[in-house]
Amino acid sequence: MKPKASFYVKIKLPPATSAETREALSEIITRVASRFSFQGLEDWAITLGAHEKVLGAEREFHDLRGKGTLSEDMRVYFAKKADGVIFAKLLSSAIGDLKISAPRALGKTDWMKEWRKHYRTQVIRQGRAGLAIVPAWKKPPASPKASVKIWPGQAFGTGTHATTRLCLEAYLREAPSLGNKFNLLDFGAGTGVLALGAMALAAQSGQKISALAVESDPEALAQAGKNARLNRRKLGLSLKLHRGEKYEFVFANVLAPVLLKFRKPLKDACQPGGFLVLSGILSAEADRFAEEFHQKGLELLSIEREGDWASLSWRRR
Ligand SMILES: C[S@@+](CC[C@H](N)C(=O)[O-])C[C@H]1O[C@@H](n2cnc3c(N)ncnc32)[C@H](O)[C@@H]1O
Repeated sequence: MKPKASFYVKIKLPPATSAETREALSEIITRVASRFSFQGLEDWAITLGAHEKVLGAEREFHDLRGKGTLSEDMRVYFAKKADGVIFAKLLSSAIGDLKISAPRALGKTDWMKEWRKHYRTQVIRQGRAGLAIVPAWKKPPASPKASVKIWPGQAFGTGTHATTRLCLEAYLREAPSLGNKFNLLDFGAGTGVLALGAMALAAQSGQKISALAVESDPEALAQAGKNARLNRRKLGLSLKLHRGEKYEFVFANVLAPVLLKFRKPLKDACQPGGFLVLSGILSAEADRFAEEFHQKGLELLSIEREGDWASLSWRRR
């Protein structure tokens, strides 16, 4: 794949800009830039390895704050130079205090190629059961026996992130109690790692799964389709939730506001007796989130934590 073109607009902040102003500003910038070919906002002076620079969507979830300091400038990245020009004009007419540069081209380093060197097989274990998430270009390990190959592209879901691992650990814990044949929903599928990982585990345990990947980003959904072919699995693909359909196991690894927005449809999608695993919740907010998400017919089984992240497992009654 050819490296993507990138142009960045540099925004110089007034000296002693407070952290609150900065946060508000980055929210406004992201909102405005998202109307164009926005690729990302760099707000931290961080020394990152090439592999971390291309985590793409995954970056949003990684807490970069521990790794760097606030930079004097912000950089806003666009795929098209013309978008950078319009964005710079819009922003400078709205906020006069900012010094905004004309868009500059970023060197065309093939970050994907660089990053591939660093992506290693991830193993998720729960008791004696385990799943290996293997980069598409590597050989699966001899143990654990179940493995899934992933070509991430720009989609989230390499198995390196805690929110993904927490989901698969919950699956390893709960799915053995389900019958021999069941339906599974992967809401916010990204690379499809959860559905495809579950299918690999089911193939080992003799369970038969019919799985649907729901992903609102068409590029990520296409990536999930490619990964399904790579693993020779039949995976349903959809940009939207199919209302009225029921699943014995539901994964939803999306940010907390999206989980709350889909609170009712996610519960409805879960078959009575089935499991609903929510991830993408900040650990510090997990208890409050559980209260907000709770609804009649759902029993909270556990809150699991890893680093800054938490997942909640529910059972539908
Ligand atoms: C954190 S990633 C999870 C990827 C993968 N399931 C994993 O666990 O690694 C969340 C994904 O949800 C998708 N998403 C966000 N809002 C969504 C929505 N309303 N409907 C479907 N997908 C959504 C995003 O595009 C992103 O790919």
